[in-house]
Amino acid sequence: MQSKSRIVGSSTAAKVFVVFAAALLPLSISVLSNRKSKPGLDQRSSSGFLATGNTGQQQAAPSAQSASDPTAWGSNHIGKPIPEYVHGDECLFCHRNNIGTTWQKNAHGVTVRQGEDAPELQAIVRQQPALASVATQIEYFLGSRHRVRFLKKDGYGKFALLNTQAVLGPEAKVDKWIDVDKLSWDKERFGNRCAGCHSTAVDSTAKTFTAFGLDCYACHGDVTLEHTKDTSLMWLSKKRRDDARAITSICAQCHLRFGKSRSTGLPYPNNFIAGDNLFQDYEVDFARADDENLNPGDRHILRNVRDVVLRGQQAITCLTCHQVHANSTAKHSAATRGTICADCHGTKFTLEMKPYAVHSSLCEY
Ligand code: HEC
Ligand code: HEC
Ligand code: HEC
Ligand code: HEC
Ligand code: HEC
Ligand code: HEC
Repeated sequence: MQSKSRIVGSSTAAKVFVVFAAALLPLSISVLSNRKSKPGLDQRSSSGFLATGNTGQQQAAPSAQSASDPTAWGSNHIGKPIPEYVHGDECLFCHRNNIGTTWQKNAHGVTVRQGEDAPELQAIVRQQPALASVATQIEYFLGSRHRVRFLKKDGYGKFALLNTQAVLGPEAKVDKWIDVDKLSWDKERFGNRCAGCHSTAVDSTAKTFTAFGLDCYACHGDVTLEHTKDTSLMWLSKKRRDDARAITSICAQCHLRFGKSRSTGLPYPNNFIAGDNLFQDYEVDFARADDENLNPGDRHILRNVRDVVLRGQQAITCLTCHQVHANSTAKHSAATRGTICADCHGTKFTLEMKPYAVHSSLCEY
């Protein structure tokens, strides 16, 4: 393992840093848009897709490609201790100008928020009389685009989850409430079912997290401060040209919402660290990629992951189309057309999209 120095070495530095963090955190988070209609998909199979302007980067007939063993490369951190990683507020101290300005509006940055950072969600609790008996207990919120769930601390690195859900509609207004008449706190559910993807650096045995929400560590890994001099040491930096399977593992650790850890049986990975081969521990049924009933949100992800890790396709990863810090998929329209476009644009490539909804039994929405 690499050794690294912590940046907050002296108490003066720590103080300066706290001041900065305080200045950064109250940034507005209400700007997060709530998309009304989802672009639609054509339910046809993509295997017959005729690529226009196909450069040969993608092959048209998946069946002709040989499946490889997804566990065969790389390593993992199962059974190893959770590293003492550099925390996000430290990263943001240096990266306040390029990342800090948008992080509080990023879907990843806000997936779990403390009450005071989410005044608009505190307001929906106040406006629901049925929540009066638990309103002062609710300390954290999970979600902000489709659904909101309510959390409170329950010991070190643990949350209790309220069974009630607020279903959000346009402009983040509550469309309806689920189970608001039978309030109950579940102490086990968050650790057993949610923690691995909605909090950071989870110890799968104790089912405790190190930080609530998603820290930089989830995607950038166990960062060494040497990266300030050589950015190629950093996962996902511009200078690095990583193996598509490693990049895909980073996003897939959370975005494959139908996997299971072989070592723990939990529905999230065991001590995954950026750079690891996710599939040595995380078991996924890739046959579901052909399930036409799967929503296009989850389906295009599963298909892209299958192309990369089973079929050895290296040209197209999540990052071909998604810019995480810009909250944008604008780049995708310039990507080379291939079978993956058919998930949303149909086999005859059309820009007309039917609205679609994303659901997940794992996430209970
Ligand atoms: C395997 C990883 C994983 C696990 C485990 C998981 N989630 Fe999720 N969750 C995600 C991802 C990824 C998204 C975003 C999906 C998307 O937008 O397409 C999400 C989205 C959500 C949303 C919607 C957020 C919004 O802004 O509307 C809610 C609510 C949610 N999850 C709740 C839960 C709860 C409750 C649990 C545990 C019972 C859970 N999730 C377990 C990965 C996971
Ligand atoms: C002591 C200040 C400092 C800290 C702390 C720090 N960085 Fe950096 N980081 C830099 C500098 C300087 C560079 C190189 C110049 C640049 O690209 O901004 C850099 C570069 C990067 C890059 C590559 C940018 C590119 O050009 O592709 C990434 C990604 C990154 N840092 C992420 C992080 C993350 C994540 C953390 C926390 C785990 C972190 N940094 C902590 C100063 C810091
Ligand atoms: C640690 C878990 C985790 C990792 C790693 C992760 N995501 Fe996410 N992602 C989420 C969750 C949770 C949400 C939903 C946030 C919410 O609304 O509460 C999400 C939301 C998204 C969205 C929808 C955001 C929007 O505004 O519509 C996109 C796109 C996305 N992620 C892409 C990626 C990509 C690309 C990667 C890899 C570089 C990645 N994610 C890595 C958990 C993760
Ligand atoms: C060929 C381009 C492309 C690739 C490759 C791709 N995506 Fe997407 N993805 C899109 C587009 C376009 C959207 C739709 C954005 C919108 O709704 O405006 C999208 C939507 C999403 C969403 C939001 C779903 C929802 O509505 O809640 C998530 C999450 C996501 N992608 C994650 C990923 C991940 C993770 C990967 C890699 C495994 C990936 N995508 C690969 C183009 C792509
Ligand atoms: C969900 C995954 C994810 C998380 C969490 C995440 N990043 Fe990134 N980061 C990326 C990806 C992917 C890129 C490559 C460029 C892009 O897609 O925006 C990137 C690029 C960067 C860069 C280079 C900027 C550039 O212009 O290319 C810096 C600096 C950075 N991240 C810092 C951070 C810091 C600091 C945090 C925590 C506050 C963080 N990241 C959290 C995925 C993530
Ligand atoms: C996950 C669904 C999804 C996938 C996969 C997808 N698209 Fe899109 N595409 C969309 C949505 C939604 C829009 C309209 C909104 C937007 O621009 O994000 C769109 C818009 C476009 C546009 C019009 C953009 C503009 O500026 O008006 C083009 C061109 C395009 N896509 C090309 C592609 C190509 C090429 C691929 C395959 C490499 C692809 N798309 C894959 C969902 C998708």
